[in-house]
Amino acid sequence: MMKQIWPENADLDEQQLEHLYAYPETRRWLAVNYVSSADGAVEVGGRARELSNPADQKVLKLGSDLADVLLVGATTAMVEEFRGVHPDEATLERRRRHGLRDVPPTAVVTTGRSLPSDAPVIAAAATPTIVITCAAAPVKKQKAWEEAGAELLVVGEDSVDLAAAIEALADRDLRRIDCEGGPHLFGGLLAAGVVDELRLTISPLLVSGTHERIATGVSLEPVDLSLASVLAEDGAMLVRYLVRNQPVGR
Ligand SMILES: NC(=O)c1ccc[n+]([C@@H]2O[C@H](COP(=O)([O-])OP(=O)(O)OC[C@H]3O[C@@H](n4cnc5c(N)ncnc54)[C@H](OP(=O)(O)O)[C@@H]3O)[C@@H](O)[C@H]2O)c1
Repeated sequence: MMKQIWPENADLDEQQLEHLYAYPETRRWLAVNYVSSADGAVEVGGRARELSNPADQKVLKLGSDLADVLLVGATTAMVEEFRGVHPDEATLERRRRHGLRDVPPTAVVTTGRSLPSDAPVIAAAATPTIVITCAAAPVKKQKAWEEAGAELLVVGEDSVDLAAAIEALADRDLRRIDCEGGPHLFGGLLAAGVVDELRLTISPLLVSGTHERIATGVSLEPVDLSLASVLAEDGAMLVRYLVRNQPVGR
């Protein structure tokens, strides 16, 4: 059972956990999910898998089960071999109970460099994947994504205008946005001032080395967070933070 240690001590059953991780009823809500080692690494050998644990999997699943759309950067989609959501019975039951469509699409952000049209995130998806790209992406590549079954969202010139992309998702009624990384995309979303929540699992592991951290890219004025909840299970700590101020220059 998941133990809540903030804002108060409590044992949370499945229903209470689901309630805690439900997206608020706002026009749009962007929650970013990460698992890291206790010393801040978000990958080992280039992947997140070794850092994860059953508690992390539980909240990660809640994040996607209750979302309208998953959002990932092209590198994460490729290295983590994203295939989109293929819902099991529990997911279907939960999504139907919340009035959500059976399968949320995945939206992948790319300039076109790292996302081949036969990527599993497009080719193996159960519902059309949304490729969020920019005008600079080669037209041939844009056509290939569409021919492979993806929907295209072109926002921005040389790179994706992330603020406009998030608005475009909300305009399509994809308002509960579950971002599953990676660090470059998260840094860009922070700089664009569109992140509402960080859901971070700290795994009871130390790895040292020069691994990626949760956000990278342009330096920002520190972004204030307020602590929303802290849970613990099997040595893992699961923290939810809300973003209080958006970066200067938004
Ligand atoms: N521990 C965790 O929870 C977790 C979660 C996710 C990822 N990770 C790890 O993070 C690592 C990947 O890190 P990353 O930072 O390279 O991945 P990333 O942020 O997923 O992908 C970066 C790529 O996304 C695209 N992109 C991002 N912002 C863009 C913008 N504004 N406009 C256009 N394209 C944009 C670009 O793709 P193009 O090159 O195609 O233009 C860019 O090269 C992996 O090792 C993965 O395992 C860990």
